[in-house]
Amino acid sequence: MLAPRPTSVWTPGPILGIETSCDETAASVLAADGSVLSNVITSQHEVHRRFGGVVPELASRAHIESIEQISAEAMQQAHLAWTDLSGIAVTQGPGLAGALLVGVNYAKALAYALSIPMIGVSHLEGHIASAWLQNPAFPLPCVILVVSGGHTHLYLKDPLGYCRLLGATRDDAAGEAFDKGAQMLGLEYPGGPAIDLLARQGNPAAIAFPRSHLKKGSLDFSFSGLKTSLLYTLQAMDKQSAKVKIADIAASYQEAIVAILVEKAFAAVETSGAQALAVVGGVSANSRLRTLLQQRAAAEGLQLSLPPLAYCTDNAAMIAAAGRQALRAGAQASLNLDAQAAMASPFAPVL
Ligand code: KG4
Ligand code: ZN
Repeated sequence: MLAPRPTSVWTPGPILGIETSCDETAASVLAADGSVLSNVITSQHEVHRRFGGVVPELASRAHIESIEQISAEAMQQAHLAWTDLSGIAVTQGPGLAGALLVGVNYAKALAYALSIPMIGVSHLEGHIASAWLQNPAFPLPCVILVVSGGHTHLYLKDPLGYCRLLGATRDDAAGEAFDKGAQMLGLEYPGGPAIDLLARQGNPAAIAFPRSHLKKGSLDFSFSGLKTSLLYTLQAMDKQSAKVKIADIAASYQEAIVAILVEKAFAAVETSGAQALAVVGGVSANSRLRTLLQQRAAAEGLQLSLPPLAYCTDNAAMIAAAGRQALRAGAQASLNLDAQAAMASPFAPVL
């Protein structure tokens, strides 16, 4: 094991971000002022598609094969030499242990060779940071809805930048509801984009899928009942020789997920008194969710941050951005930094 390097003060400059928590190998370079100079991503969808989901061992191997090339490409697109870097940010967790280890070890080797500070970043903090990547002046306080394969969480970020948890899913994350629903519908992995695409040809009002509100005023989510309802709908269809098109089912199922996300996000805005809403994470790439959020924000005069698609799904620009904030605040990791597959949320629940 390498000894921890002596802590040195971070000198502001370009930062390399590295993300390998699941099935995307990504590297990105931010300039000293935080603007994105490059954002390179390679997806392993082709590797995992025939298995219907991510196979951890194959993910680790694919990260090992691409990490050097993707990082070199990020440096090239940023027109920088390795020695121009002032720091490295890497996803520490949560995620697949073997996949995270590839990024963490690569970041440690680079930081050691270049003798520059590094920092481990929570993937969740990365997604949150993505809301400010294109719009650094987006205001606080702000409600943040994180919707990904692992999270459906509502936070209030206060003017000092601290996040408080307002609500979360009690069972599946929204992304899981999309992925499992897509599997039942016989669509290819990854399921979210597949449902999004198919739903464009369907009628979202064709089937009244249940929308779980939980108890009055709750900002928590639940998608397990919806999933079961989809299963029963499909079983009944087999028996009755379906009149309803599969696209109608996909559109109605998607509508049930996104309607509840929009409803609870705006309820959180109302109860918190915030004037701004940010929606981040892979599911925020959903076209129907984006339309409904934009319509309602415009109707209510609310400021909305919806990152461009490249910053919604996993990317390294968001990791570099979160790492930059931490380095600026004086944090640094030692070279003993370890991946944390089950890394806990850095944010406290509301009391
Ligand atoms: O943030 P992300 O790339 O990885 C995690 O941190 O989990 O989110 C991945 C999730 C998957 O469940 C995927 O199906 C979903 O985001 N997703 C979508 C869309 N694009 C990605 N869900 C609905 N519509 C989309 N267009
Ligand atoms: Zn993610």
